[in-house]
Amino acid sequence: MKITGGNVKLRGEITVPGDKSISHRAVMFGAIAEDDTIIKNFLMGNDCLSTVQCFRDLGVEIDIQDNIVKVKGVGLKGLKRPKKILNVGNSGTTIRLLSGILAGQNFISHITGDDSIQKRPMDRIITPLRKMGASIKGVDDKYAPLQIEPADNLKGITYRQPVASAQVKSCIMLAGLYADGITRVIQPSISRDHTERMLNYFEYDVVIKGKHVILNKTTKLKGKEIIVPGDISSAAFFIVGALILKGSRIVIKQVGLNPTRTGVIDALKKMGGNIKIVNYRFVNNEPIGDIFVEYSQLKGIEISGDLIPRLIDEIPVLAVAASVAEGTTIIRNAEELKVKESNRITAVVNELKKMNVDIEELDDGMIIKGSKNIQTANLDTYKDHRITMALTILALYAKGESIINNTESVSISFPKFYEVLGEIIT
Ligand code: S3P
Repeated sequence: MKITGGNVKLRGEITVPGDKSISHRAVMFGAIAEDDTIIKNFLMGNDCLSTVQCFRDLGVEIDIQDNIVKVKGVGLKGLKRPKKILNVGNSGTTIRLLSGILAGQNFISHITGDDSIQKRPMDRIITPLRKMGASIKGVDDKYAPLQIEPADNLKGITYRQPVASAQVKSCIMLAGLYADGITRVIQPSISRDHTERMLNYFEYDVVIKGKHVILNKTTKLKGKEIIVPGDISSAAFFIVGALILKGSRIVIKQVGLNPTRTGVIDALKKMGGNIKIVNYRFVNNEPIGDIFVEYSQLKGIEISGDLIPRLIDEIPVLAVAASVAEGTTIIRNAEELKVKESNRITAVVNELKKMNVDIEELDDGMIIKGSKNIQTANLDTYKDHRITMALTILALYAKGESIINNTESVSISFPKFYEVLGEIIT
């Protein structure tokens, strides 16, 4: 795709599609709840549609009309043995959370996904699930395809996570629904807590005490209506776009503002970004609001420590903001970026270098010296949706025409990204 940049700004009011993490969970928890779950503003992206397909293959009736999804809950014990291998496509959230549920079933199942999924670490769920008594195997005990066999009796464990990961935390909690006794996860830093919030909303007893999450045994989940907030990870591309393109002023309505996800706003404000939140309110146990953003001269900062899990998916676009900020931005403790849909440290460093950004690769992050001299380039996207969208934003800043190769991956989390962008470019 050709992107013409320089002298463009973003102006207007938009919404972004539903949150990916919440959309996945709404289908999964709805499937194993009693009664129906109606999901409004569901993200019709390929990852969430993979979750829908997996649960249909497990015998759950799921009806989709526009972006409203109706899941007919079958209860904790109502899933059926799938007739084929479950395929999660590109979705790490699907394979890791679904494995927790399948560990508690009395039938055998196999799960796989695309090339990227088959390279991502699954030992991080295999290890705790085995501690709970699950029978789960992977290639070299580390990679998908996974095979999960019925286990006699899962038992609740206390698991101290070596790495902050909401997918692993959620996997353990979901297996905990099928285990005897209490399941407790201790996090090194707090990761997104949508599972905890939605289980509570579905009337399951989950307690959060600082970095500890405790799942007390309850008998069932109660299906409900869920309105999915706009995805802050999708909003982040427009927030950064508006901050760096001179003359921009935008409003993004109804965005999820869960504090475990708003690290990107905290970081950009610290960089000097003019960002305001209005209409702060709650829907189904999740805070949402409207985000106002205006062009601002940004400055470099350090991003590290407990902040990292709160903005992990936004680092590619934060690197874009840092590229045009005054001074140096240092991103550390972000080694998890290497095991996302692509190695996002290498991807960001290689592609931003092509645009004349002074960027150095670190083992756990990057160092970026901001400048105004960003150049057009021919850019690769590593089949990674967030790399594609982040590069598009920097290409809008560079004066002239950049080529972004293979932009189809936006369909993973934001199928209409280029249309929405087109609505506010002036
Ligand atoms: C997600 C958790 C994060 C995030 C991913 C979605 C989730 O992954 O990067 O996009 O929905 O739980 P990790 O748990 O691997 O950090």
